Amino acid sequence: MKKFPQGFFWGAATSAHQVEGDNIHNDWWLAEQNGALKEASGRACRHYELYREDFALAKELNHNCHRFSIEWSRVEPREGEFDASEIKHYREVIADLIARGIEPVVTLHHFTNPAWFSQKGGWLRFKLQKYFLRFVEKIVNEFAGQVKFWITINEPLVYSSHAYLLAAWPPKEQSLFKTAKVTLNLAGAHVKAYRVIHKIYREKGLPRPMVSIAANLQAFQLCRPTLRNKISVYLRHKLYNLYFIEELRRKKTLDYIGVNYYGRNLVCVTSWRLRHLLLETCQYNHHPLRKNSLGWDIYPEGLYKLLSALKKYNLPVMITENGICTGDDDLRWDYIAEHLVWIHKAMQEGTRVLGYIYWSLIDNFEWDKGFIPRFGLVDIDYHDLKRTIRPSARKLAEVSKSGEITEPAINNES
Ligand code: BGC
Repeated sequence: MKKFPQGFFWGAATSAHQVEGDNIHNDWWLAEQNGALKEASGRACRHYELYREDFALAKELNHNCHRFSIEWSRVEPREGEFDASEIKHYREVIADLIARGIEPVVTLHHFTNPAWFSQKGGWLRFKLQKYFLRFVEKIVNEFAGQVKFWITINEPLVYSSHAYLLAAWPPKEQSLFKTAKVTLNLAGAHVKAYRVIHKIYREKGLPRPMVSIAANLQAFQLCRPTLRNKISVYLRHKLYNLYFIEELRRKKTLDYIGVNYYGRNLVCVTSWRLRHLLLETCQYNHHPLRKNSLGWDIYPEGLYKLLSALKKYNLPVMITENGICTGDDDLRWDYIAEHLVWIHKAMQEGTRVLGYIYWSLIDNFEWDKGFIPRFGLVDIDYHDLKRTIRPSARKLAEVSKSGEITEPAINNES
């Protein structure tokens, strides 16, 4: 039996555009309407109207924290025009969570931008950071009294690479130079946002907030032990996993490390070119691995290895996302249970983990992959939007209630 400490956070996450529906003022919506994406988000899960119902389910599942994002394009649909009714909406969302005894963890940027912001050049232009900071200042001034945990930017590198290198997300560009520019701009925006948030709390005489990013960490592993593969694994780990964390820590702008972890990335590189070293995906299909429905390798031990590597930073960690899309709910439970056991082991060995936030509370709009991937603890029937709790969610609810998990048979694929 593995026991988690008293006060450990148990919860699930969503992001505005993926669940709310009708986010008509952002760059994703525009791209969806122009047919640039496979599916349009449309009404999504209508979480904007149904959030109370969804939070009641979270409560039923014994969650004591919930991560969600405030949609910048709702709050500021046109440059400089803040919509008081949207601020009121998010005030009610936060109040509803608090009334249920659920700690809000608020993300300020989760992949989407107001259309006006991207039309001006978006994150490619350093000068435009000021608009994000103005939004941050507005929101934090409104909610400082209610919110302790903030995430400024979700997965900055995933955003910059998908939007500016892989041409998968709006504005669908393919430039290493632009990707680097956007990445640096996001890092700068976090640093400034961190300082803005802390300043507001100081001025209001509130206890120090907890501010971080949600970093997407992957377990990079050798497919074959060649020198080229070893260098590639080293570079990827340094660049994709640690660059942001080290940079922000150096600037003293992390109060904790938000970790999003999904699985393993096997590395097998066929050329010494930088593009290959950094980006090439393993072409071999011979690994007898468990995968999610998008084909990502399941590798719970990787989270333990990453948490152990983070220990040296001497900062608490929050698992801000960990989850699986699958049609096999037994596999979902195995995935959750095994990750929890590895997290527990890392905690035993000295990494301070504050909580576990599963992605996602409900099935939702999985960006360029549309509605097919099912990550939810709660199933959504997209015909009538009926919510049904999955058995894996009930099992996790038992763990959140008791703070204990029985060790599952670990699948060791390393
Ligand atoms: C993102 C989510 C996404 C999830 C599954 C994370 O990268 O923050 O928005 O749905 O992974 O792909």
